Amino acid sequence: MKTIAIANQKGGVGKTTTACNIAAGLAIRGYKTLIVDLDSQCNTTTTFLEPDAITTTLADVLVGHQMRPPLVEAIYETHIENLDLAPSHIRLAMLERAVQIEEQYRLKDALESLEGYDFTLIDCPPSLGMTLTQALLATQFVVVPVAAQYYPLEGVIDLKSTVEATKRPNPALAVLGYVVTNFDTRNRICAEALQKIQEMFGEVVFETVIRTNVKLQTAPAFRKSIYEHAPDSHGSKDYEALTDEMLGRLKMNSTIRAVEARAK
Ligand SMILES: Nc1ncnc2c1ncn2[C@@H]1O[C@H](COP(=O)(O)OP(=O)(O)OP(=O)(O)O)[C@@H](O)[C@H]1O
Ligand SMILES: [Mg+2]
Repeated sequence: MKTIAIANQKGGVGKTTTACNIAAGLAIRGYKTLIVDLDSQCNTTTTFLEPDAITTTLADVLVGHQMRPPLVEAIYETHIENLDLAPSHIRLAMLERAVQIEEQYRLKDALESLEGYDFTLIDCPPSLGMTLTQALLATQFVVVPVAAQYYPLEGVIDLKSTVEATKRPNPALAVLGYVVTNFDTRNRICAEALQKIQEMFGEVVFETVIRTNVKLQTAPAFRKSIYEHAPDSHGSKDYEALTDEMLGRLKMNSTIRAVEARAK
């Protein structure tokens, strides 16, 4: 199983949009995928699940001391074949208080208890706190969405330092790529921001840029990924290209459905 955390402590840079649409893209390609909503705002959860359908959440699995259920009890099928989701809850904010070493490895231990997934994507909250620490201890890869504006660039350096620091307890940790999101092709600031990000991080920046596309904003209200909501939109094409580029970096098949590939 490959684990990818979608992280940036800056709010509103496209983490959830990226996590949901990469996860959907991987599932559509036939990869059995789990999306873990580690943000107590629950945006990923409500993108795919009706709140009434949820009984056990990640807060039950990760927060508190006694009688915590196993992660498998907090996993729900979505309407997309091959895509399951571990939902969040407002109480997951309590994870910020999990400062004991044993507590910080709860997500890692929970993910290691699972079988059968090709990918796990973790949608992280907008902070550099203990919840992000749990994600960085549990993951192999980090994908960093960066909004194509000036201010979001500043926080990315802090995130990079946090990832470097977490390599001590998690030596395999690596940034798989920075992805520029919400890119307005007519806006000069966006073009400058893209250039600056490329200067700062070089080849680690994905070639694919996610353009500003209103369909990416409306899809969650219909509980849909961009592929179902607006298959011909820029948003759909950009996330499809990003998913392929990401699979290329992982040296995994991006064109043939994974199940067919495995059967060969
Ligand atoms: N490429 C895009 N084009 C247009 N709107 C976008 C794009 N990407 C994201 N958005 C919108 O921007 C807002 C913030 O995006 P999103 O929720 O994905 O960011 P986030 O980093 O997860 O935010 P938070 O830090 O609050 O969790 C949302 O309303 C989303 O629909
Ligand atoms: Mg989010």
